[in-house]
Amino acid sequence: MQSREQWGSRLGFVLAAAGSAVGLGNIWKFPYMAGQNGGGAFLIIYLALVFTIGLSVMLAEFAIGRAAQRNPIGAFAVLKGKMWPIVGFMGVLAGFIILSFYSVVAGWTVAYIVKMASGALVGDADTLGAAFGGFISDPVEPILYHAFFMALTVAVVLGGVHGGIERACKILMPMLFVLLIVLIGRAVTLPGAEKGLEFFLSPDFSKVTAETFNGALSQAFFSLSIGMGAMITYGSYLNKKENLAKSAVWVSALDSAVAVLAGLLILPAVFAFGFDPAAGPGLTFITLPAVFAQMPGGIFFGILFFLLLTVAALTSAVSLLQPIVAYFTDEKGWNAKVTAVVFGFVIFALGVPSSLSLGIWSDFHIIGEKGFLDSMDYIASNIMLPVGGILISLFVGWAVAGKMQSEVTNEGEKPFPLFGAWLFICRFIAPIAVAWILISGL
Ligand code: TRP
Repeated sequence: MQSREQWGSRLGFVLAAAGSAVGLGNIWKFPYMAGQNGGGAFLIIYLALVFTIGLSVMLAEFAIGRAAQRNPIGAFAVLKGKMWPIVGFMGVLAGFIILSFYSVVAGWTVAYIVKMASGALVGDADTLGAAFGGFISDPVEPILYHAFFMALTVAVVLGGVHGGIERACKILMPMLFVLLIVLIGRAVTLPGAEKGLEFFLSPDFSKVTAETFNGALSQAFFSLSIGMGAMITYGSYLNKKENLAKSAVWVSALDSAVAVLAGLLILPAVFAFGFDPAAGPGLTFITLPAVFAQMPGGIFFGILFFLLLTVAALTSAVSLLQPIVAYFTDEKGWNAKVTAVVFGFVIFALGVPSSLSLGIWSDFHIIGEKGFLDSMDYIASNIMLPVGGILISLFVGWAVAGKMQSEVTNEGEKPFPLFGAWLFICRFIAPIAVAWILISGL
């Protein structure tokens, strides 16, 4: 067996994990979820869940991955066996489903680079809304972009974890951060933007329902890339020197910071232009071009923004494909390149009905009123990730608790004073709270 690939540096791992976490979940999904779920109250519940349950599950995944040095399925098998590898299997399946629609939306960002550059995204709010609606419902164009994005993802995975991913994260993530701040400067000074700031920052708890909790929880899992084993996989390429708890805090903090920045950018602009904050998945794509139109050098900023968003999506997509590739190479001895290409095709195919569900197949419903794309998102994000999170917590809290103290403290070298609290969350709080939110949401 060839020796397992490793991250190139300490910073490399945190950046790669943050690269996985920061993506469309933060910039496309978070603002519209906050918009649909009451703004400020959603933000507070979201952050509370991230820094309790989310952080604990992330640390659990890092610890499992590093202890086992395996893909998610193999990791459960090595550490405990019995029925546990099923958790990893469900995770790999969830990654499969998520990537299929994720790549469709990432394709939109690629298309928007081209559309910004060609000057197609001009006009008032209504024109921009119609342009977006026309584009995503087209039976051909978005699928070509989806194919292109999926090919990019496969290409990065072929480059190996630390060649491609680490380098992309080191330069482009800080750029995205800075660009967001520049754009916020424009958005919050638009006339009428104050109403959006108020909506996002001052919570109205009278609007909180079981659905708010359910939305915040699934968004937290999706945004942190937890519940399916992506972080198990990334932890498995780690040596025994890294401080796992500190890394988990960094990744969660960076991910939340980007989500909050995206909210500060999109929601004020939504109110300034008179859009509906509850409009759903088109929110970011319709609002931002309207912001760019109000800026000097707007075309330049627009191209740069969608380019960086594409890269952020790419570093996330890679973390959805990598666990699948790691499984077949670790356990079945398959060739990594062949595996990546084959599954790239299969996932592309599964994404096609998602794309069509926004146009010619929009009458075809799977869950309730939800079309194919929304149903895939719902099954994976609202059910599979939280269930995965419950099982990962129980695994760490009960099944392998004895091995975990030495794992998170690097055999006692890095003290982790909160170990007891973490174990308590994994044993009781996370499973019970997540199960409760899950059941009350259904
Ligand atoms: N967290 C990424 C985002 O916010 C998406 C993602 C990457 C993901 N890997 C994951 C979601 C694993 C769930 C599980 O865009």
